[in-house]
Amino acid sequence: MPQNRRFLLQRRPDGTPVEADFELVTEDTPALAEGEFLIRNHYASLDPAMRGWMDESGNYIPPIPLGAPVRASTIGVVEESRAEGFEPGQWVMGLNALEDYSIGVAGGFTQPIDPALVPSVTNYLSIFGAVGMTAYFGFLEVCEPKPGETVLVSGAAGAVGSLVGQLAKIHGCRAVGIAGGPAKCARLTEKYGFDAAIDYRGKDEAALTAAIAEACPDGVDVIFENVGGIILDAGLMNLNLYARVGLCGLISEYNTAPRGIRNLWQLIVKRAHIRGLLVADYVERFGEGAAKMGEWAAAGKLTIDEHIDEGLENAFDSFMRLFAGTNDGKMILKIA
Ligand SMILES: NC(=O)c1ccc[n+]([C@@H]2O[C@H](COP(=O)([O-])OP(=O)(O)OC[C@H]3O[C@@H](n4cnc5c(N)ncnc54)[C@H](OP(=O)(O)O)[C@@H]3O)[C@@H](O)[C@H]2O)c1
Repeated sequence: MPQNRRFLLQRRPDGTPVEADFELVTEDTPALAEGEFLIRNHYASLDPAMRGWMDESGNYIPPIPLGAPVRASTIGVVEESRAEGFEPGQWVMGLNALEDYSIGVAGGFTQPIDPALVPSVTNYLSIFGAVGMTAYFGFLEVCEPKPGETVLVSGAAGAVGSLVGQLAKIHGCRAVGIAGGPAKCARLTEKYGFDAAIDYRGKDEAALTAAIAEACPDGVDVIFENVGGIILDAGLMNLNLYARVGLCGLISEYNTAPRGIRNLWQLIVKRAHIRGLLVADYVERFGEGAAKMGEWAAAGKLTIDEHIDEGLENAFDSFMRLFAGTNDGKMILKIA
């Protein structure tokens, strides 16, 4: 069995993760038991949610145990198998870890995938993976957009946000995106088709509230929230009557004590609602979502950007891009 480089969580981060919280080690890969198969991981998805899994409390799944490799969705190829239905050479996708090799179990979370069905096998981690399905079900089912409505998206240049803005345009809405810096704002309007872009950097809550009001002269009917903090509070001050807020993520609070929402009273004033969403709730319907996303992508209506860094030894720097905002698209780490 091959040697396995594994990126371990050695200490729970106190606020923003530092390199010393992790360690890259080389271990022997144990022999396969009956029903197991060996996966050579080729690509790993780096997701903001992984930060929550590093805390003692975890989030919607249990925390990563200390000394264990950092959990991540990966795609790879079966190298050896003692499991029916998993043959050497077959591509698979599953919730594994940041490591060269993972051991899959028949009947577990790892599923076969077919690279021939997609332009790039990495698309299984972006448009056809959790990111694409979060945008599809989170926006269309939780936010219930109607043609002509104004949709405000935070984290708009990121993996989920860029897709939500494009879905808003496909559904006849006006899309306004919030992102960090002029380059990302230009990408929103020029590449993803947003009607307007707001650079949040250097703005306090009052300035953000005014910028949203200017970019959304008819008010905001839907907020797709990825960031939280003052960005969400400024959005709430611009809601229309009966607006919907889809709470997808709060990345501005993942490394700090939660600030909380301060303008919640606007939900009363505007008879609006806010609803959390979790992509895991839609797993049974991923086929339906992937088919629709594939249709729109093939018709040239959806652009998907993937930011692919290379090397397991760069896992820390690549993961931290999500918090520095230096990822341009879905953050993926090429391992093999
Ligand atoms: N609920 C679910 O089922 C589900 C599923 C997937 C993802 N999510 C959530 O969706 C959000 C986006 O995830 P993603 O995978 O698409 O990541 P992403 O948007 O591709 O990358 C993260 C982006 O967040 C922005 N950001 C980071 N720290 C920030 C801060 N303090 N203030 C403002 N913006 C900040 C940065 O963009 P800027 O340069 O623009 O700042 C960064 O590029 C996250 O909150 C994630 O937890 C939820």
